[in-house]
Amino acid sequence: MKALLLAGGTGTRLRPFSYSMPKQLIPIANRPVLEHVLDNIRALGVVDIGVVVGDHGPEIADALGDGSRFGLRLTYLHQTAPLGLAHAVLVAGDFLGDDDFVMYLGDNMLPQGVTAALEAFLTARPAVQTIVHKVPDPSAFGVAEIDAGGRVTRLVEKPAAPRSDLALIGVYFFTPAIHEAIAAITPSARGELEITDAIQWLVERGSDVRAHEYTGYWKDTGRVEDVLACNRELLEGLRRSVLGHVDDASRLIGAVVLEAGARVVRSRIEGPAVIGAGSLIEDSSIGAHTSVGRNCRISGTRLDCSIALDGATVTGVRGLYGSVIGRGAVVGVAEDEPRGHRLVVGDHTHVEVAA
Ligand code: G1P
Repeated sequence: MKALLLAGGTGTRLRPFSYSMPKQLIPIANRPVLEHVLDNIRALGVVDIGVVVGDHGPEIADALGDGSRFGLRLTYLHQTAPLGLAHAVLVAGDFLGDDDFVMYLGDNMLPQGVTAALEAFLTARPAVQTIVHKVPDPSAFGVAEIDAGGRVTRLVEKPAAPRSDLALIGVYFFTPAIHEAIAAITPSARGELEITDAIQWLVERGSDVRAHEYTGYWKDTGRVEDVLACNRELLEGLRRSVLGHVDDASRLIGAVVLEAGARVVRSRIEGPAVIGAGSLIEDSSIGAHTSVGRNCRISGTRLDCSIALDGATVTGVRGLYGSVIGRGAVVGVAEDEPRGHRLVVGDHTHVEVAA
């Protein structure tokens, strides 16, 4: 079995971060989403992975290399435009050949893994096995209707009036039967070749299409709110590890990970929280569910439930929460404070200030 990891897509919902980095490299608990995904694929025993990339391909290749660091073999496949998930399978035709494969969307986080779904696929070996998850608002996803035996009777992409609460999660197990279906479908209203339509084509022709229900935690990390929520969830599983330096005037409470070379001076850090290598936390209070990347400087600040990416600097801000601070970004106090706030805000950035 091979794997097809989809890491194209423009990530418009993750602006402004997606202007300068692929959304799949956004860090969750200080590791890019794609590294979490690769962990899950490796747990399936699959080592041959085709990575479908778009314009951000070079950055993804820089971050993951040839995969040997993870015990995997990565082959990069270029998709010239984001024309749909089924189009990505078309692009990967030569790489996939006649093998079964697992297709994994590179922005989907399933921390409990998908090994149970693989076992179900290998046991029943249907033409396709999707993974579904109960969600409160299925209309934002592909929606599956299934019978009592777990067979899919109908799939619809983002229906206005969903007939079930089972969303398609971004992991699919395919036999080569999917290639004929993809060749037969046409682009959807949004101009994409939808994998949902290709699977529905097989359903309509009586193929065995099944759905495995994943009951663990799931997040499509497409929006900033999802990234923060997922970060909170993953940090919950953190175990304390203090490799950096903590001075006598500081306190670390609970599950705090302090990477090598990080320094904590006159500060308080409440876990679960992670502070990346080379970062300095001084005269600050870091609240639970916060990730600070590498080489950041947090000074005279209170930061809660937030993510600071590598190289961020925050100085003198008491009361930052639910924030995502980009790479090398600087947040501080206005020099001429009485006049108000002073902002240099990039395109599609989101700022909320206290009134
Ligand atoms: C895609 C699929 C959709 C699925 C979702 C999961 O949606 O088309 O069926 O439910 O991923 O993340 P997209 O992210 O392309 O809108």
